[in-house]
Amino acid sequence: MKVGGTVRVPGDKSITHRALLFAALARGTSTVDGALTSLDARSSARVLRQLGAEISPVREGVTVTVAGRGRLRRPTATLNCGNSGTTTRLLLGLLAAHPFAATLTGDRSLRRRPMRRVTGPLTAMGARVEERGGDGLPLTIRGGQLQPLVYEMPVSSAQIKSAILLAGVAGGVAVSVREPHGRSRDHSERMLRAFGYEITERDGWVDLHPTGRIEPFAIEVPGDPSSAAFLVGAAVLAEGGELRVAGVGVNPTRTGFLAVLRRMGVAIAVENTTTRVGEPVADLVVSPAALAATDVEPGEIPTLIDEIPLLAVLATRARGTTRFREVGELRVKESDRLGLVAENLRAVGAEAEVQGDDLLVTGSDAPPRGRVRTAGDHRLAMAFAVLGTLPGAKITIDDLACAAVSFPRFPEALRSIRIR
Ligand code: S3P
Repeated sequence: MKVGGTVRVPGDKSITHRALLFAALARGTSTVDGALTSLDARSSARVLRQLGAEISPVREGVTVTVAGRGRLRRPTATLNCGNSGTTTRLLLGLLAAHPFAATLTGDRSLRRRPMRRVTGPLTAMGARVEERGGDGLPLTIRGGQLQPLVYEMPVSSAQIKSAILLAGVAGGVAVSVREPHGRSRDHSERMLRAFGYEITERDGWVDLHPTGRIEPFAIEVPGDPSSAAFLVGAAVLAEGGELRVAGVGVNPTRTGFLAVLRRMGVAIAVENTTTRVGEPVADLVVSPAALAATDVEPGEIPTLIDEIPLLAVLATRARGTTRFREVGELRVKESDRLGLVAENLRAVGAEAEVQGDDLLVTGSDAPPRGRVRTAGDHRLAMAFAVLGTLPGAKITIDDLACAAVSFPRFPEALRSIRIR
């Protein structure tokens, strides 16, 4: 296929979750423009309503208004976070500072994801947590008076970091966290600074001093770079043309995939850069390219953690073997993404293997053909749909509808970039 035109992608998922959560903590009405309207974003809105925030329907093209009460209210029923790990983990941070019990659960995928990585440090701050059968959901958290925390995280994760920062904010105590390998997305830090919180960074440590106050705000959410990555990937694999993805967030803690694509031989221009509420936003302009393999290093993984399925499918078209180093975290994403990416690549005839915590993918020219099992994982579905745009490809995806977790109307967006 050939690509052309200018497209926009839905609002950033990470920023939408954070905007809703922060607005629920403010006393008064905030507005969120360009919010993501996906299933995950609706999960955040749904549980925050159960906790006392009044949130208007989360619909495409409509400003979302959030009337917060300054504090969360005791919920009368279990909080179902659907498929959303970010909703669950960030909310746990807030709930840790509230003096009531709340029970959280989720869908099958979310229930199997580890929560002790968040409840451990929150317990050290003073929250009480009751598990219902191991390291996952459902669980009940009882918050209260919190103590300051200095904590070295076992894995680099914006969800753990943000949960602890939010506990510090809602509990009015100082927290310091350190990530082991590279820096994860810093949207929470940027938003908190805008509310007057003093956040300092030194030697990998992020220190929050409870100096600020969350007041009602208005935010315009940039396009999600993690969604843009799929359209960029389709343009890279195309036979000709040029695609512009407009209004995409280009926060450097999110754009590791651009650096990797450039190493693989792709020319990507970043144009019309502006700043929107503390976040850089730009257009990405990309054309098809012949790809060469590369090594993706542990330090860059946090900046492209959600783009590995897409990069892995692109690596099947690159000359040589691409190695993604130390990507064990993928085992605890919406699916066992490490195992499933490799298994599905092999199912469509590509060469891929897992060696310890590394993923190796070797390129070829053979058209990919076969059946893909997504286990309901939106990013797997979208990555293989991109691979399916290659000439001669014949890929059947068991569940493309799950793309709606992060990218409503993804199939239409993928079709819309195609020109004759
Ligand atoms: C997210 C952080 C990442 C990412 C997820 C969204 C966030 O998870 O995979 O899609 O908004 O904080 P980890 O921080 O656990 O790596």
